[in-house]
Amino acid sequence: MPNPTGYLASQIWLHWLVALLIIPQFLLNESMGQAWRAIERGQEVTPSVLITAHVVAGVAVLALVLWRLVLRLTHGAPPPPASEAPALQMVGKITHGLLYLVLALLTVSGGMAWFGGIKASAGVHEAATSLLLLLVSLHVLGALYHQFVLKTNLLARMKRPG
Ligand code: HEM
Ligand code: HEM
Repeated sequence: MPNPTGYLASQIWLHWLVALLIIPQFLLNESMGQAWRAIERGQEVTPSVLITAHVVAGVAVLALVLWRLVLRLTHGAPPPPASEAPALQMVGKITHGLLYLVLALLTVSGGMAWFGGIKASAGVHEAATSLLLLLVSLHVLGALYHQFVLKTNLLARMKRPG
């Protein structure tokens, strides 16, 4: 596995693009929920703009996450700041790994429910949304802790290619 000193510009763009695409998925999912409940009752559903947007943005997130994973495997990621306690370095690594995993689970389960009509998949999708919220909160707290308490200027790594 390569050991770069910083992230590639493409890794940085993809990081913020995925973060941006995820926000409306959380704020504007009401029509998707209603449509799904109607489908479960056996009713016909005509996809609205918000429903189409949820599906398109979600599928885009899956494609972008796969692209990120390829870059992660070929280019790697900079090592955690040396001043960080080993236990915290491990928490960071695990959180990043779980973020990739949950994003994949979330998008694939959504697709399996919507395109495949698999009802159990919708339950997995819903659980994965809560898990993602939890992980992102932990992730953001970690980034802010680095920036303002440990003062490692970690955020610069996700702003400027290294
Ligand atoms: C939905 C929102 C987000 C997701 C899914 C996400 C996901 C990730 C992942 C998977 C990594 C690891 C990259 C790798 O090494 O392969 C990462 C790194 C990073 N993220 Fe996020 N992130 C999100 C939002 C944010 C936000 C809001 C901030 C800032 C407050 C942030 C700051 C950072 C920083 C500074 C790194 C680099 C950490 C390091 O190099 O050790 N992220 N993010
Ligand atoms: C970044 C990716 C995604 C996020 C963050 C996301 C988020 C959400 C949220 C928060 C809900 C409401 C859950 C609830 O009822 O509490 C939801 C519902 C739903 N989403 Fe997604 N979604 C994503 C991708 C997708 C994709 C790719 C599809 C399908 C192709 C999809 C299909 C659905 C369906 C069918 C529902 C209604 C059933 C349910 O509540 O589980 N989603 N989504």
